[in-house]
Amino acid sequence: MEKVRLGIIGTQFAALLHMNSLVKLRGARVDVVAVASKTKEHAEAFAKKFNIPDYYYDDHRRLLERKDIDVIDLCVPTDLHETFAIETAEARKHIICEKPLTGYFGKDKKEEQVGFEVKKKFMLREAMKGCDRVAKAVEKNKVKFMYAENWIYAPPFTKLKNLIKVSGGTILDIRAEESHSGSHAKYSRRWKTSGGGALMRLGAHPVGGVLHLKHYEGILKYGKPIRAKSVMAEVGQHTKIASFVKEKKKYIVSEWEDVEDWGVMIINFEDNSKATVFSSDAVLGGVRNTLNVYLSNAVVNVNINPHNALEVYAPEPHIFGDEYIAEKLETKAGWNFPSPDEDWVRGYPQELEDFIDAIQFNKEPVSGMDLARDVVEAIYAAYVSAEEGKRIEFKR
Ligand SMILES: NC(=O)c1ccc[n+]([C@@H]2O[C@H](COP(=O)([O-])OP(=O)(O)OC[C@H]3O[C@@H](n4cnc5c(N)ncnc54)[C@H](O)[C@@H]3O)[C@@H](O)[C@H]2O)c1
Repeated sequence: MEKVRLGIIGTQFAALLHMNSLVKLRGARVDVVAVASKTKEHAEAFAKKFNIPDYYYDDHRRLLERKDIDVIDLCVPTDLHETFAIETAEARKHIICEKPLTGYFGKDKKEEQVGFEVKKKFMLREAMKGCDRVAKAVEKNKVKFMYAENWIYAPPFTKLKNLIKVSGGTILDIRAEESHSGSHAKYSRRWKTSGGGALMRLGAHPVGGVLHLKHYEGILKYGKPIRAKSVMAEVGQHTKIASFVKEKKKYIVSEWEDVEDWGVMIINFEDNSKATVFSSDAVLGGVRNTLNVYLSNAVVNVNINPHNALEVYAPEPHIFGDEYIAEKLETKAGWNFPSPDEDWVRGYPQELEDFIDAIQFNKEPVSGMDLARDVVEAIYAAYVSAEEGKRIEFKR
């Protein structure tokens, strides 16, 4: 295959992240043929901005019907991933799917507060059935499923993997976090569209990271992955604390409905090592994407965001004008740590390049179905643990 012909569904936040990286491969290895989204203005503006020949806004299936597209990049809200991925597989096209793969989103009752009303044990079972349905469609139609978990492609993370390999040490303890001051996206406020709160949307990244690392260590040491064997967790809605509710000026997103804005989970692995994952929608100071890895013979701290390749200071926020400093930063005043190339440090171009390689050279992507499935399982088991107040063991 000379060039991979790609279509994108979704034209907002995640789609921009993907497109900004795809432009680097465009012309030589990738043709972005068409896009689809729900609103005409967004689809049109996106197509125009990136010089994409066609766009659809009435029905994403028009994109799937095209014979000149090899792969569909799903940048749509999480509740649509399962259906869209299955439709894509049935159309015999490869799938790039944003994180997390899927979850439980309730029935079609409009006002349902899924997060409060439905037992998490039931959700776990249903979410795993959703993963199985996607896996089955992928297998049946012999297409590739590529799971867009950028963390495991981030250069600090791939360096960590090299260090783990050469050290030969045992990963004893990992502490990982993704937090910030709250999502911009409306779908994130309700379980019905997001499938969970901070643990699901933010935690999916560090959970993906730690599961991948122990998997990697297992392959190196024993020729088979070290998988999670149990999970314990706690969740909370810190933005509902009475004194915070009374505060007039809010720097933190607080419109959460039936989803948690804070969560912590401990993953216990088959070799009895542990990973602790923190995620919060109520942390000021810009996005935090970090991993501390304690090996038996080394320590590695991975600072995807923030990191200090650049340290900048301004006495007032207007001084840096419109120049981008960091995601979800409240102010450009004072000392800050912009990344010279945030997309690169976060692994988006490397992720998309691996996916294009996978299609062009018919190989497995570094991030695929197994990781996508295990992330859903770990997060929903964490929800069961938090609800029932006990450790949840996996039946393998
Ligand atoms: N990897 C990352 O760093 C990262 C960052 C943000 C979001 N995400 C993931 O990306 C996904 C999308 O999140 P987002 O923040 O871009 O959301 P968003 O709300 O900004 O954009 C969603 C897009 O989907 C389109 N859409 C919705 N329903 C549609 C339909 N029926 N048909 C066609 N298009 C439809 C919308 O028009 C919009 O363009 C989520 O699963 C999220 O978890 C990943």
